Amino acid sequence: METIASKAASLSPIVDLQDVCKTYGSGRTAVQAVDHVNLTIQPQEFVLLLGPSGAGKTTLLSLLGGLLQPTSGTVHVAGVNLNRLNARQLAHFRLHRVGFVFQFFQLMSALTAHENVELVLRLAGRSRHAARHEAEGLLHRFGLSQRLTHLPAHLSGGEQQRVALARALALQPPLVIADEPTGSLDSHLGEEVIRLLRQLVDEEGRTVLVASHDPRLMKAATRVLQCEDGKVREG
Ligand SMILES: Nc1ncnc2c1ncn2[C@@H]1O[C@H](COP(=O)(O)OP(=O)(O)OP(=O)(O)O)[C@@H](O)[C@H]1O
Ligand SMILES: [Mg+2]
Repeated sequence: METIASKAASLSPIVDLQDVCKTYGSGRTAVQAVDHVNLTIQPQEFVLLLGPSGAGKTTLLSLLGGLLQPTSGTVHVAGVNLNRLNARQLAHFRLHRVGFVFQFFQLMSALTAHENVELVLRLAGRSRHAARHEAEGLLHRFGLSQRLTHLPAHLSGGEQQRVALARALALQPPLVIADEPTGSLDSHLGEEVIRLLRQLVDEEGRTVLVASHDPRLMKAATRVLQCEDGKVREG
């Protein structure tokens, strides 16, 4: 039976941006990458953020992932006001609340596929044994059982992307953010990653926000946003 508390939680947005701006630099060279953005995203939406190069997509995702601080405005994610977190709380937020998948994966090059996933589990306090076991399960789910001991340099782009996805999902974050997740993949592997992201929403009730130029994501998304010159509007 659904309690009032869980009902209230399910109605509150997972992302809530109020009048958010992000300016890089200052004076004559200042760039307003995000310009007075208001945006709410509800749980279990699959949001696609489209927009030309330089529109501010990565900057916006980085603000939501707690990787950048806004110049002004407030950023709430999963009910937490990120502006109010100290460095330690922010590190905890980044580890547990969001799974971030970067365009070029950003795997640790000296660690194997297995160790890349294990690392976040260890950071979250799992025992060596538990981390190993969980990482193996995740990589198995993403079809990488035969690649556990490979270094990133010895994996294909699609395999690296799936390791990055496994790592992002290891601690079961409610919000998954992916920046151009299909950008460096061929069409078949791109389809596979889209299918995995869609599954996260449909089968696990997570919320997915993807920035991309890839029109195939239009079919998977439940909502499309257009980003241009730092502004965001419904597409
Ligand atoms: N660290 C930085 N310092 C200064 N300017 C930056 C920095 N990062 C981004 N910018 C500028 O901010 C603007 C938005 O950049 P951003 O990377 O968010 O765009 P994007 O929509 O992700 O583009 P792309 O599709 O090419 O990835 C651009 O004009 C960019 O040059
Ligand atoms: Mg970008």
